[in-house]
Amino acid sequence: MSNKTGKKILLSGVKPTGQAHIGNYFGAMKQFLDLQNSGDYECYFMIADYHALNLIQNADEMHKLTQELVLDFLAIGLDPKKAVLFKQSDVSAHTELAWIFDTIVTMPYLMRAHAYKDAEAKNKEINVGTFNYPVLMAADILLYNTDVVPVGQDQKQHVEYARDIAEKFNFIFKDSANVGATTFKLPQPLILENVATVPGIDGRKMSKSYNNTIPLFATREEITKAVMGIVTDSGGPENGGIPANVYAIHKLFKSEAELKPLYEANKGKYKNLKEALIEDIDAFIKPIREKRVELVKKADKVVSKTLAEGAKCANKIVQAKLEQAKRAVGVI
Ligand code: ADP
Ligand code: TRP
Repeated sequence: MSNKTGKKILLSGVKPTGQAHIGNYFGAMKQFLDLQNSGDYECYFMIADYHALNLIQNADEMHKLTQELVLDFLAIGLDPKKAVLFKQSDVSAHTELAWIFDTIVTMPYLMRAHAYKDAEAKNKEINVGTFNYPVLMAADILLYNTDVVPVGQDQKQHVEYARDIAEKFNFIFKDSANVGATTFKLPQPLILENVATVPGIDGRKMSKSYNNTIPLFATREEITKAVMGIVTDSGGPENGGIPANVYAIHKLFKSEAELKPLYEANKGKYKNLKEALIEDIDAFIKPIREKRVELVKKADKVVSKTLAEGAKCANKIVQAKLEQAKRAVGVI
């Protein structure tokens, strides 16, 4: 067992880089909510603004996106009374520990990261922050004695980096004075296989970068526009008149048993099926959309209070671990 409450420790992060969409929700945020409400974990949910700084290099935009993400978290039901909601840059131990890790992590090892390899394959100019991304993420995770890290498949490698870095640190500094056998606990990723990848309206992975999203807090009009834009080519006779992309998104909102009669009765009638999908998405989004509208009315106050409380708690929690690491390396 992990801490005073006897519960396992869970931490995850989201970058404030744009408007949340239903792929983010079903791929990550919903799990945060379920795990928080299970009562089985001591939960930390972090807004990874320093990671986002690799992409968002404009102060107004950074403020806005951070604020939006706090509101999104609260609107879906993450609850500061049940989980610590905080911002990475408010807890300077993250960057401090990342520097310590930088001194034991090698360049060839970081060059094997998927994100780095993809950027290089595209001949992009890669900043040091992007190259070091996995090191900061390891610090995020290891500072909290984290047991589990719920993430999408695309982040699995980063959790493996955190494990490797913990093991290497523990090995190098195992004989240091004042340190027990290990400084860092090895975290496990928690990948939810059945959510896998949510498709966008064009059938590719739903992503802000592809412009193929259904926003998580979309209005009825926005939902209608997005759903009417779902590409239906793949639903020809070879698929029994079932539009694959419509069905793949619909599955997120209704069970396959519920959908079967609807799709049977409407083979080839794409418009009817899309209208049914609009209804089901709207029924799901409406309550959280309305909650968010309420939160927006007092946004400044809500956001600053949430982040101030989260920062206070997170800073307190990480002190002992940071000190242990600093002792292990001999700077204190
Ligand atoms: P985007 O691709 O829109 O930029 P991010 O990379 O910011 O999304 O992802 C934030 C979180 O949402 C990650 O945990 C990621 O695994 C999850 N996620 C994003 N898109 C999808 C998707 N289409 N299906 C499932 N999960 C997703
Ligand atoms: N890299 C994660 C993403 O892009 C965000 C993140 C930053 C994170 N630090 C983390 C996730 C720590 C889990 C744990 O989605």
